[in-house]
Amino acid sequence: MIDIVNVSKTFKKRIKALDKVSFKVNNGEIVGYVGLNGAGKTTTIRIAVGVLPPDSGDVLINGYSITSDKRRASKYVGWVPEIPIFEPDAKALDYFVYLAGYYGIGVSEARSLGKRLLEEVGLGNALYRKLKEYSLGMKKRFALAVSMINNPDNYLFDEVLNGLDPQGIAFFRDLTLKLRKNGCSVLFSSHILSEVEGIADKVVFIHRGKIVKEMTIKEIKSMAKPILRIKVSNIDDRIVDLLGDYGRARIEGNIIYLEEPRVKASTIARLLVEEGYSVEEFSTIESRLEDVFFKIIGEKK
Ligand SMILES: Nc1ncnc2c1ncn2[C@@H]1O[C@H](COP(=O)(O)OP(=O)(O)O)[C@@H](O)[C@H]1O
Ligand SMILES: [Mg+2]
Repeated sequence: MIDIVNVSKTFKKRIKALDKVSFKVNNGEIVGYVGLNGAGKTTTIRIAVGVLPPDSGDVLINGYSITSDKRRASKYVGWVPEIPIFEPDAKALDYFVYLAGYYGIGVSEARSLGKRLLEEVGLGNALYRKLKEYSLGMKKRFALAVSMINNPDNYLFDEVLNGLDPQGIAFFRDLTLKLRKNGCSVLFSSHILSEVEGIADKVVFIHRGKIVKEMTIKEIKSMAKPILRIKVSNIDDRIVDLLGDYGRARIEGNIIYLEEPRVKASTIARLLVEEGYSVEEFSTIESRLEDVFFKIIGEKK
Protein backbone atom coordinates (compact mmCIF):
# COMPACT_ATOMS: atom_id res chain seq x y z
CA MET A 1 0.00 0.00 0.00
CA ILE A 2 1.14 3.50 -0.87
CA ASP A 3 -0.13 6.23 1.43
CA ILE A 4 0.75 9.77 0.44
CA VAL A 5 0.13 12.09 3.35
CA ASN A 6 0.08 15.88 3.07
CA VAL A 7 3.12 16.14 0.85
CA SER A 8 4.32 19.63 -0.09
CA LYS A 9 7.33 20.61 -2.17
CA THR A 10 8.64 23.96 -3.39
CA PHE A 11 11.55 24.28 -5.81
CA LYS A 12 13.96 27.20 -5.70
CA LYS A 13 11.89 28.86 -2.97
CA ARG A 14 9.20 29.90 -5.42
CA ILE A 15 7.88 27.06 -7.60
CA LYS A 16 5.23 25.38 -5.49
CA ALA A 17 5.21 21.97 -7.20
CA LEU A 18 3.07 20.17 -4.58
CA ASP A 19 0.63 21.59 -2.07
CA LYS A 20 -0.54 19.18 0.65
CA VAL A 21 -0.99 16.23 -1.67
CA SER A 22 -2.74 13.22 -0.09
CA PHE A 23 -4.12 10.00 -1.54
CA LYS A 24 -3.81 6.24 -1.16
CA VAL A 25 -3.18 3.33 -3.45
CA ASN A 26 -4.58 0.22 -1.77
CA ASN A 27 -3.37 -3.34 -2.25
CA GLY A 28 -4.70 -4.82 -5.47
CA GLU A 29 -5.58 -1.37 -6.79
CA ILE A 30 -4.41 0.47 -9.88
CA VAL A 31 -4.60 4.24 -9.60
CA GLY A 32 -4.19 6.55 -12.58
CA TYR A 33 -2.47 9.82 -11.66
CA VAL A 34 -3.60 12.35 -14.23
CA GLY A 35 -2.72 15.99 -14.79
CA LEU A 36 -1.33 18.36 -17.40
CA ASN A 37 2.40 18.65 -17.98
CA GLY A 38 3.92 20.41 -14.99
CA ALA A 39 1.04 19.51 -12.65
CA GLY A 40 3.33 17.73 -10.18
CA LYS A 41 3.08 14.02 -11.04
CA THR A 42 6.78 13.29 -11.41
CA THR A 43 7.60 15.26 -8.26
CA THR A 44 5.05 13.20 -6.29
CA ILE A 45 6.47 9.95 -7.63
CA ARG A 46 10.08 10.91 -6.98
CA ILE A 47 9.17 11.79 -3.40
CA ALA A 48 7.22 8.54 -2.97
CA VAL A 49 10.16 6.39 -4.10
CA GLY A 50 12.57 8.28 -1.86
CA VAL A 51 14.85 9.99 -4.40
CA LEU A 52 13.57 13.47 -3.53
CA PRO A 53 12.79 14.66 -0.01
CA PRO A 54 9.48 16.47 0.58
CA ASP A 55 9.45 19.84 2.39
CA SER A 56 6.69 18.47 4.61
CA GLY A 57 4.40 15.50 4.76
CA ASP A 58 5.37 11.86 4.27
CA VAL A 59 4.78 8.76 2.18
CA LEU A 60 4.13 5.43 3.85
CA ILE A 61 5.01 2.31 1.91
CA ASN A 62 3.38 -0.72 3.53
CA GLY A 63 3.27 1.46 6.62
CA TYR A 64 6.99 2.39 6.58
CA SER A 65 7.98 6.03 6.23
CA ILE A 66 10.01 6.85 3.10
CA THR A 67 11.54 9.83 4.92
CA SER A 68 12.44 8.40 8.33
CA ASP A 69 12.67 4.67 7.52
CA LYS A 70 13.84 4.80 3.93
CA ARG A 71 15.88 1.57 3.98
CA ARG A 72 12.88 -0.49 4.94
CA ALA A 73 10.26 1.42 2.92
CA SER A 74 12.24 1.35 -0.33
CA LYS A 75 12.48 -2.44 -0.19
CA TYR A 76 8.83 -2.59 -1.10
CA VAL A 77 8.90 -0.10 -3.98
CA GLY A 78 9.46 -0.54 -7.70
CA TRP A 79 9.85 2.54 -9.89
CA VAL A 80 9.91 3.08 -13.63
CA PRO A 81 11.05 6.69 -14.22
CA GLU A 82 9.67 8.89 -16.96
CA ILE A 83 13.00 8.91 -18.79
CA PRO A 84 15.11 5.98 -17.62
CA ILE A 85 18.81 6.84 -17.68
CA PHE A 86 21.43 4.11 -17.65
CA GLU A 87 25.11 3.73 -18.45
CA PRO A 88 24.91 3.83 -22.26
CA ASP A 89 27.97 1.70 -23.03
CA ALA A 90 27.04 -1.10 -20.63
CA LYS A 91 25.47 -4.28 -21.91
CA ALA A 92 22.00 -4.91 -20.53
CA LEU A 93 22.65 -8.05 -18.50
CA ASP A 94 25.97 -6.75 -17.14
CA TYR A 95 24.32 -3.54 -16.03
CA PHE A 96 21.48 -5.45 -14.44
CA VAL A 97 24.03 -7.47 -12.44
CA TYR A 98 25.75 -4.25 -11.38
CA LEU A 99 22.47 -2.72 -10.17
CA ALA A 100 21.46 -5.95 -8.40
CA GLY A 101 24.67 -5.52 -6.41
CA TYR A 102 23.03 -2.57 -4.66
CA TYR A 103 20.42 -4.97 -3.39
CA GLY A 104 23.13 -7.25 -1.99
CA ILE A 105 22.70 -9.89 -4.68
CA GLY A 106 25.88 -11.76 -5.73
CA VAL A 107 27.06 -11.97 -9.33
CA SER A 108 25.98 -15.49 -10.27
CA GLU A 109 22.57 -15.16 -8.63
CA ALA A 110 22.14 -11.75 -10.26
CA ARG A 111 22.94 -13.17 -13.69
CA SER A 112 20.29 -15.85 -13.45
CA LEU A 113 17.78 -13.41 -11.95
CA GLY A 114 18.62 -10.92 -14.72
CA LYS A 115 18.08 -13.49 -17.44
CA ARG A 116 14.74 -14.46 -15.93
CA LEU A 117 13.43 -10.91 -15.39
CA LEU A 118 14.71 -9.53 -18.70
CA GLU A 119 13.09 -12.50 -20.42
CA GLU A 120 9.86 -11.77 -18.52
CA VAL A 121 9.75 -8.16 -19.74
CA GLY A 122 10.36 -9.21 -23.34
CA LEU A 123 14.10 -8.43 -23.56
CA GLY A 124 15.25 -12.06 -23.71
CA ASN A 125 16.83 -11.52 -27.10
CA ALA A 126 18.60 -8.29 -26.15
CA LEU A 127 20.53 -9.38 -23.05
CA TYR A 128 23.93 -8.63 -24.55
CA ARG A 129 23.08 -5.46 -26.41
CA LYS A 130 24.40 -2.12 -25.24
CA LEU A 131 21.83 0.05 -23.49
CA LYS A 132 22.50 2.94 -25.86
CA GLU A 133 21.11 0.72 -28.63
CA TYR A 134 17.88 0.22 -26.71
CA SER A 135 14.76 2.11 -27.87
CA LEU A 136 12.74 4.13 -25.34
CA GLY A 137 10.27 1.25 -25.00
CA MET A 138 13.13 -1.19 -24.36
CA LYS A 139 14.61 1.16 -21.76
CA LYS A 140 11.27 1.25 -19.98
CA ARG A 141 11.10 -2.53 -20.01
CA PHE A 142 14.66 -2.66 -18.69
CA ALA A 143 13.76 -0.22 -15.90
CA LEU A 144 10.78 -2.42 -15.09
CA ALA A 145 12.99 -5.51 -14.80
CA VAL A 146 15.31 -3.56 -12.49
CA SER A 147 12.34 -2.37 -10.41
CA MET A 148 11.34 -6.01 -9.90
CA ILE A 149 14.72 -7.09 -8.48
CA ASN A 150 13.54 -7.42 -4.90
CA ASN A 151 10.00 -8.39 -5.85
CA PRO A 152 8.26 -5.36 -4.35
CA ASP A 153 4.50 -5.16 -4.00
CA ASN A 154 4.18 -1.43 -4.78
CA TYR A 155 4.92 0.02 -8.20
CA LEU A 156 5.10 3.58 -9.48
CA PHE A 157 5.10 4.00 -13.24
CA ASP A 158 5.79 7.53 -14.48
CA GLU A 159 4.28 8.17 -17.94
CA VAL A 160 5.19 4.61 -18.77
CA LEU A 161 3.00 4.43 -21.90
CA ASN A 162 4.31 7.69 -23.32
CA GLY A 163 6.17 7.11 -26.59
CA LEU A 164 5.51 3.38 -26.72
CA ASP A 165 4.29 1.46 -29.75
CA PRO A 166 1.01 -0.49 -29.47
CA GLN A 167 2.89 -3.64 -28.54
CA GLY A 168 4.68 -1.86 -25.69
CA ILE A 169 1.40 -0.34 -24.50
CA ALA A 170 -0.30 -3.75 -24.52
CA PHE A 171 2.64 -5.22 -22.62
CA PHE A 172 2.45 -2.64 -19.81
CA ARG A 173 -1.33 -2.96 -19.64
CA ASP A 174 -1.17 -6.74 -19.25
CA LEU A 175 1.65 -6.54 -16.77
CA THR A 176 -0.18 -4.00 -14.62
CA LEU A 177 -3.31 -6.13 -14.57
CA LYS A 178 -1.19 -9.12 -13.53
CA LEU A 179 0.35 -7.11 -10.70
CA ARG A 180 -3.11 -6.15 -9.51
CA LYS A 181 -4.17 -9.79 -9.50
CA ASN A 182 -1.20 -10.53 -7.27
CA GLY A 183 -2.42 -7.89 -4.80
CA CYS A 184 0.17 -5.23 -5.69
CA SER A 185 -0.49 -1.48 -5.58
CA VAL A 186 0.20 0.36 -8.81
CA LEU A 187 0.34 4.13 -9.32
CA PHE A 188 0.34 5.07 -12.95
CA SER A 189 0.88 8.68 -14.06
CA SER A 190 -0.24 10.12 -17.38
CA HIS A 191 -1.11 13.46 -18.94
CA ILE A 192 -3.71 11.69 -21.09
CA LEU A 193 -6.86 10.54 -19.32
CA SER A 194 -7.91 8.08 -22.02
CA GLU A 195 -4.55 6.35 -21.64
CA VAL A 196 -5.33 5.19 -18.10
CA GLU A 197 -8.98 4.42 -18.84
CA GLY A 198 -8.59 0.77 -19.75
CA ILE A 199 -6.23 0.05 -16.86
CA ALA A 200 -6.97 2.09 -13.76
CA ASP A 201 -9.67 1.40 -11.16
CA LYS A 202 -9.57 4.95 -9.90
CA VAL A 203 -8.15 8.24 -11.14
CA VAL A 204 -6.60 10.93 -8.97
CA PHE A 205 -6.49 14.30 -10.73
CA ILE A 206 -3.73 16.75 -9.93
CA HIS A 207 -3.72 20.33 -11.12
CA ARG A 208 -1.07 22.93 -10.31
CA GLY A 209 0.25 20.89 -7.42
CA LYS A 210 -3.13 20.24 -5.80
CA ILE A 211 -5.33 17.15 -5.87
CA VAL A 212 -8.56 18.37 -7.41
CA LYS A 213 -10.59 15.17 -7.60
CA GLU A 214 -10.63 11.41 -7.10
CA MET A 215 -13.01 9.43 -9.27
CA THR A 216 -13.66 5.86 -10.34
CA ILE A 217 -13.51 5.14 -14.07
CA LYS A 218 -17.23 4.45 -13.91
CA GLU A 219 -17.93 7.92 -12.51
CA ILE A 220 -15.73 9.52 -15.17
CA LYS A 221 -17.51 7.68 -17.95
CA SER A 222 -20.89 8.74 -16.66
CA MET A 223 -19.68 12.34 -16.96
CA ALA A 224 -18.78 11.75 -20.60
CA LYS A 225 -22.34 12.32 -21.79
CA PRO A 226 -23.09 12.18 -25.50
CA ILE A 227 -23.84 15.22 -27.67
CA LEU A 228 -26.76 15.21 -30.14
CA ARG A 229 -26.02 16.73 -33.54
CA ILE A 230 -29.14 17.63 -35.49
CA LYS A 231 -29.25 19.16 -38.96
CA VAL A 232 -32.44 21.16 -39.50
CA SER A 233 -33.17 22.88 -42.85
CA ASN A 234 -35.60 25.47 -41.43
CA ILE A 235 -33.54 26.28 -38.34
CA ASP A 236 -34.37 29.43 -36.30
CA ASP A 237 -33.58 30.93 -32.88
CA ARG A 238 -36.74 29.51 -31.32
CA ILE A 239 -35.23 26.02 -31.52
CA VAL A 240 -32.63 26.97 -28.88
CA ASP A 241 -35.38 27.91 -26.39
CA LEU A 242 -37.29 24.79 -27.29
CA LEU A 243 -34.37 22.42 -26.73
CA GLY A 244 -32.90 24.46 -23.88
CA ASP A 245 -35.24 22.64 -21.52
CA TYR A 246 -33.65 19.32 -22.43
CA GLY A 247 -29.94 20.11 -22.31
CA ARG A 248 -27.42 22.73 -23.43
CA ALA A 249 -28.30 23.82 -26.96
CA ARG A 250 -26.21 25.81 -29.41
CA ILE A 251 -26.53 26.57 -33.14
CA GLU A 252 -23.79 26.43 -35.75
CA GLY A 253 -25.11 27.16 -39.26
CA ASN A 254 -28.04 24.87 -39.84
CA ILE A 255 -26.89 22.43 -37.19
CA ILE A 256 -28.00 22.41 -33.59
CA TYR A 257 -25.92 20.70 -30.92
CA LEU A 258 -27.53 19.51 -27.73
CA GLU A 259 -24.98 18.76 -25.01
CA GLU A 260 -25.75 16.55 -22.03
CA PRO A 261 -29.30 15.73 -23.17
CA ARG A 262 -31.61 14.91 -20.28
CA VAL A 263 -34.08 12.88 -22.35
CA LYS A 264 -33.76 10.17 -24.98
CA ALA A 265 -32.67 11.13 -28.49
CA SER A 266 -35.94 9.78 -29.93
CA THR A 267 -37.92 12.18 -27.70
CA ILE A 268 -35.96 15.13 -29.11
CA ALA A 269 -36.51 13.95 -32.67
CA ARG A 270 -40.27 13.61 -32.14
CA LEU A 271 -40.51 17.03 -30.50
CA LEU A 272 -38.75 18.76 -33.38
CA VAL A 273 -40.98 17.14 -35.98
CA GLU A 274 -44.10 18.03 -33.96
CA GLU A 275 -42.92 21.64 -33.83
CA GLY A 276 -42.65 21.76 -37.61
CA TYR A 277 -38.90 21.45 -38.05
CA SER A 278 -37.59 19.42 -40.91
CA VAL A 279 -34.84 17.22 -39.54
CA GLU A 280 -32.35 16.17 -42.21
CA GLU A 281 -29.72 14.45 -40.11
CA PHE A 282 -29.68 13.18 -36.57
CA SER A 283 -26.62 11.68 -34.89
CA THR A 284 -24.98 11.19 -31.53
CA ILE A 285 -21.39 12.22 -30.90
CA GLU A 286 -19.76 10.48 -27.97
CA SER A 287 -18.10 13.11 -25.81
CA ARG A 288 -14.45 12.37 -25.27
CA LEU A 289 -12.80 11.53 -21.98
CA GLU A 290 -10.35 14.36 -22.52
CA ASP A 291 -13.29 16.80 -22.44
CA VAL A 292 -14.19 15.40 -19.03
CA PHE A 293 -10.60 15.85 -17.95
CA PHE A 294 -10.61 19.57 -18.81
CA LYS A 295 -13.97 19.98 -17.13
CA ILE A 296 -12.66 18.39 -13.93
CA ILE A 297 -9.54 20.54 -13.73
CA GLY A 298 -11.58 23.58 -14.73
CA GLU A 299 -9.35 24.69 -17.60
CA LYS A 300 -9.95 25.36 -21.23
CA LYS A 301 -8.04 23.32 -23.80
N1 LIG B 1 14.25 19.95 -10.11
C1 LIG B 1 13.37 20.95 -10.31
N2 LIG B 1 13.74 22.24 -10.17
C2 LIG B 1 12.86 23.24 -10.35
N3 LIG B 1 11.58 23.07 -10.69
C3 LIG B 1 11.14 21.81 -10.86
C4 LIG B 1 12.02 20.68 -10.67
N4 LIG B 1 11.29 19.56 -10.89
C5 LIG B 1 10.05 19.96 -11.20
N5 LIG B 1 9.96 21.31 -11.18
C6 LIG B 1 8.72 22.10 -11.41
O1 LIG B 1 7.69 21.56 -10.61
C7 LIG B 1 6.45 21.53 -11.29
C8 LIG B 1 5.92 20.11 -11.37
O2 LIG B 1 6.75 19.34 -12.24
P1 LIG B 1 6.54 17.79 -12.48
O3 LIG B 1 6.36 17.12 -11.17
O4 LIG B 1 7.67 17.33 -13.31
O5 LIG B 1 5.17 17.76 -13.29
P2 LIG B 1 4.53 16.60 -14.19
O6 LIG B 1 5.31 15.35 -13.97
O7 LIG B 1 3.11 16.52 -13.76
O8 LIG B 1 4.64 17.06 -15.62
C9 LIG B 1 6.73 22.18 -12.63
O9 LIG B 1 6.42 23.54 -12.54
C10 LIG B 1 8.20 21.95 -12.82
O10 LIG B 1 8.74 22.93 -13.69
MG1 LIG C 1 6.23 14.11 -15.34
